[in-house]
This record gives sequence, structure tokens and C-alpha cells, in this order.
Amino acid sequence: MSSSELRQKFLKFFEKKGHKIVPSSSLLSTDPSVLFTTAGMQQFKEYFLGKASPYGNRVTSSQKCFRTSDIEEVGDTTHLTFLEMLGNFSFGDYFKKESIEWALEFLTKDCKLKKEKLWITVFEGDKEVPEDKESREIWKELELAEGKIHGFSREDNFWGPTGEEGPCGPTTEIHYELSKKPCSLGKKCLPNCKCGRFIELWNLVFNEFHQDKDKKLTPLKQKGVDTGMGLERLVMVIQKKSSVFETDLFSLTSESQEERIIADHIKGSVFLASEGIIPSNVEQGYVLRRILRRAIRYGKVLNPVRDSENREKSKKERISNGVKMPKNFLIPLAQKVIEIYKDVYPEVKSKEADILTIIQNEEEKFAKTLEKGNKVATLKITRAGKLTADIASNLYESEGVPLEISKEIASSKGFKIEKNIDVYFGKFFKKHQEISRAGAEKKFGGVGKKAGLEEAKLHTATHLMHQALREILGDHVKQMGSDITSQRLRFDFSHTAKMTDEEKQKVEEIVNQKIKQDLEVKKEEMSYKDAIDSGALAFFKEKYPEKVSVYSIGDPSDPSGQVFSKEICAGPHVNRTSELGIFKIKKEESSGAGIRRLRAVLE
Ligand code: ALA
Repeated sequence: MSSSELRQKFLKFFEKKGHKIVPSSSLLSTDPSVLFTTAGMQQFKEYFLGKASPYGNRVTSSQKCFRTSDIEEVGDTTHLTFLEMLGNFSFGDYFKKESIEWALEFLTKDCKLKKEKLWITVFEGDKEVPEDKESREIWKELELAEGKIHGFSREDNFWGPTGEEGPCGPTTEIHYELSKKPCSLGKKCLPNCKCGRFIELWNLVFNEFHQDKDKKLTPLKQKGVDTGMGLERLVMVIQKKSSVFETDLFSLTSESQEERIIADHIKGSVFLASEGIIPSNVEQGYVLRRILRRAIRYGKVLNPVRDSENREKSKKERISNGVKMPKNFLIPLAQKVIEIYKDVYPEVKSKEADILTIIQNEEEKFAKTLEKGNKVATLKITRAGKLTADIASNLYESEGVPLEISKEIASSKGFKIEKNIDVYFGKFFKKHQEISRAGAEKKFGGVGKKAGLEEAKLHTATHLMHQALREILGDHVKQMGSDITSQRLRFDFSHTAKMTDEEKQKVEEIVNQKIKQDLEVKKEEMSYKDAIDSGALAFFKEKYPEKVSVYSIGDPSDPSGQVFSKEICAGPHVNRTSELGIFKIKKEESSGAGIRRLRAVLE
């Protein structure tokens, strides 16, 4: 059974049980307290809390998820950063009995897994939350042998909430016994044992509580079910493979740890880039940068330019940039990912040019960083005779050398590394991120900044131009970057071809027409989700705060209620378009494959 068949089978199974199939939501979380979508339930969070669900009370989905929590484990046979989560959800409808029965039915009847291979965990109870006896009883009634059902604590069998607060509850998990091999760790071997005998397949969460910001639990008025099963793992078990990387969701033929890391990270990068994220030093952009650069570094081990100099180098030295890399080695890997997913997630295909550009640009940037950074790092570490957190921080700040690389350089040369360097570096890094964030906010017109009138004008002009570009070139035009000084605006956007003179002229005409119409620039505060639902354009480069400002430019007396432009933006803006003057495009050029850059002024 192929992964596509399996994904469909799951959704159809629950559709037959009265569930509405809901498409995956974006990987970018609408909850400002988390960066990414990490679970299928996230897009349904408020329906667990009582808000009426537009899809009814039973839904099912296959959700794109991205998690950095397991990043250090990636490289083994089952852990991933990007994964698809199959789930069925009940908002105050069915509860434990149906969820458990259906899970068992799907796995044993539809997927034909042997019941004997299934092991179950349930919540054993603690001071605050009682033992989940009901789930245990249900499993027993379904003739799961008592010896296969085991109680675990909060850490393993209690889930949620995502973000700072939300629904949560005890869980029952289905684990699959991959082998009968005696446990290599020499202890009582049960599900959750790290020896690899079991794989956790499906997590059934019974949302009974709401946890608030102070971690206080209160019972929910309505009980809910939230389940999650990693598609990659299910496919691995059903296709009888010994790792997720051998399934048709990866198709790696020979596997080393490095290959697995690269395969995982490039897939994650493709999906993050498909959401409009661009590598940067903060938030989601930082995560993308981190996994891309990690993939590049591991690529050096596998794929060095084969010259005599390289051959001499140890694996460690190669990772820390001992070698030259063949250029763009990630591009064919990214294309393979796009090929695998293009039918299920068409956005990876429609954004292909942007995705490949982002990857290519980052590869080039990182190569430069490493080339220079490595020399400086080697020099500084050698001079000090050791690597301290101060040196590592300085290298990161001045040369962009990641801590991992400084460590690798030090250890490959036999120098000592300061104890607790991760902790000290972590403190520095946090501060550094805050400074970068403040800088980014200032650059993109952050809240609270008293900007000059000229900047405000150019901000408003940027919105008009963005919309004009979409009208002339098409809806694929999306903001990829923006930089405004008091003199000019600079705007990067997704578009493959060079703009013709005629197109530039038309854009100018539209903007100037809107200026002449003296349209009102209206600001509204709302939640990020409401903003997106109302059709506002968003630029995903920075993480948005809980409440965002939406600027609409239009004629409020227009009976159609149509606005010309609507975007989430931190401002500042002018009140009416007539304040802008005359808009002129000064330059149009490439800013990488699939990205164009415009400079424009107001005269
Ligand atoms: N939300 C649950 C999880 O992510 C199902 O494991």
C-alpha cells in the first residue's frame, strides 16, 4: 500500500464514521505563542473549548506538522522534523469508547496489522488527575491481553496544551512491536523503551481539561477527542521497512545517519519555504536557516568534492567545512521532495521557483560565511588554545559561525571546550535574538516607533504597489521582503520574469490613480486569524503578535464595500492616499531566481 493510498484510506475510514474531511492548515501557527503547527488539533483548538465548529463535531485530517523538539533524534529510524499527522477529532461528540474501537478497527481490519503486535499505554493517574480506568477497561473488552496494557505517568500519557494554554487530557497510546528481539538495554522492556523494539504509532488524547497560563487545570464543559498518528511511521510499519526513510515518503536507498538528517531537513526546508518563510536570524526564519545549514554541513560528509586534499580529512573536519562542496547539491534533493508531495500539497509545486531560490541563496550565503568564518574561528580558537563561550559568542556575532561549528573546529584540533558552553552560549543567543528582533521590527516598521512622515508615506505606497503588482502580474505575487528608508522603498516579491516597461508603467498608473482618488487608510486591530480570514495579506517573515493591525486602503463610501488593499502591517501609515505625491518606479531587477526587486520613490 502506498503512502497516498494509506492517507486516503484513513480519511475515508473516518468519513464513513460521520467525520468531515478537513484539509491540512498552514505550517505556520495562528497561535502567537508557538511558531509552528505541531499537531493536527491546533487548527481546531477553539472548537474543543466550545466554539461552534463550522465543520460539525466530527472531523478528520492529515495535517502538515513541523517540530523542532526531536531535532537531535533525527538521524535514527523514526524521528522527523516535518511529518504528517493523521487524526480524528470529536468536539463534545463521541468519547473514549468509539475512539478506541475505531482505532483498533482501522489498524487491524483496514491496515491488516496483527492485533498481537499492538501494545497499549494508559494514564496511571497522579495527585491531580485520576487514573484512566475506563480506557483500560475498553481495551480489555476488545480482548487486548492484560499483559499488553500498561500504565504510565504524566510525561508519557497526558497531552497538551499546545502554546500557553488550551485543552489537554489523559491519553491512551497504541505502540507496535517491531521485533521480538530481547531488549538491548537490559531492563524491563515495555512500550516507550528506547531499545527500538516498539514504535509509538497512535496517540488518542481525551481532552477533559483546560490548562491556563499558570498551569492550572479546570474541567472542560465539553469533552473532546484528539488523535494523532504519524503517517510516516504507519507507512513504515505497513510497508515493512526498518526506517521511515525507506518508505515511499523518502525513498532513500542507502542510509547513513547523515543522509537521513539531510533528507529530513531538506524536506522540512521545502515545506517551510513553501509557506513564505525566508531564512533569517529570528523566529521561523531562524529555524529554516538552522535546518538548511545543518543539511549543508552534513552534506559535506557525504558529498565532498573529490580531491586529494579532501580525502585526507576526517569526517569531523569535513563537517566543519574542511571541504569545498559541489554547488547547489541540495537543489536536486529539494526537487525530489517536491515530486513526492506535489499532488497532495500543490503549494510545493506552485512555489517551486521560490523554494529553490531560497535554498540556493542560503547555500551561497552559508558557503561564504563558512569560508571566512572558519578561518577566523580557527585562528581565534588556536590563539586561545581552547573554545570558551565568549569566543563562540563573538564568532557567532561577528562572523555568523554557529556554535556547533566552533565546537567541531575545536575538537578536530584537539582543543578543550569550556564546560557548560551550551548554557552560556544559550544566554548570549537569547539576548542576541532579542536585539535582532528589535532591529527587524524597526526595519519593517515595528509597533511604537515614531517614524518620519516620509517613511509612513512609503509604507502606504508599498501597500498600493503590492496590490497593483498583483493586478498586473497575477496573484502569485507575494511580498518576500521590504525595506523602507525615508528616501525610497525597496520591495522583493515572487515573480519569475523581468517586468516589461509596459508592466512597470501600468503599476505606476494604478498606484498614482489610487493616490489621486484620495482613499482612506483605515487601521483595525484584530486577531491574526480574523485578519487572515478577512482576506488580509500577510508577510510571514516575522512572527505576528496576538493582536495585529490590519490596514485597508479603499473608499469607505463604496457601496460594494470593496477595499483596494488589505494587509497586516505594523505601520506606520498616512491617513489618506492623497498625502503621497507622485509614485515612480526607479529600478526593477532580479533578487535571485523567482524573486524580483523593485525600488520606487515618491516625488
Ligand atoms: N495532539 C496529539 C499529538 O500530537 C494527538 O500527539
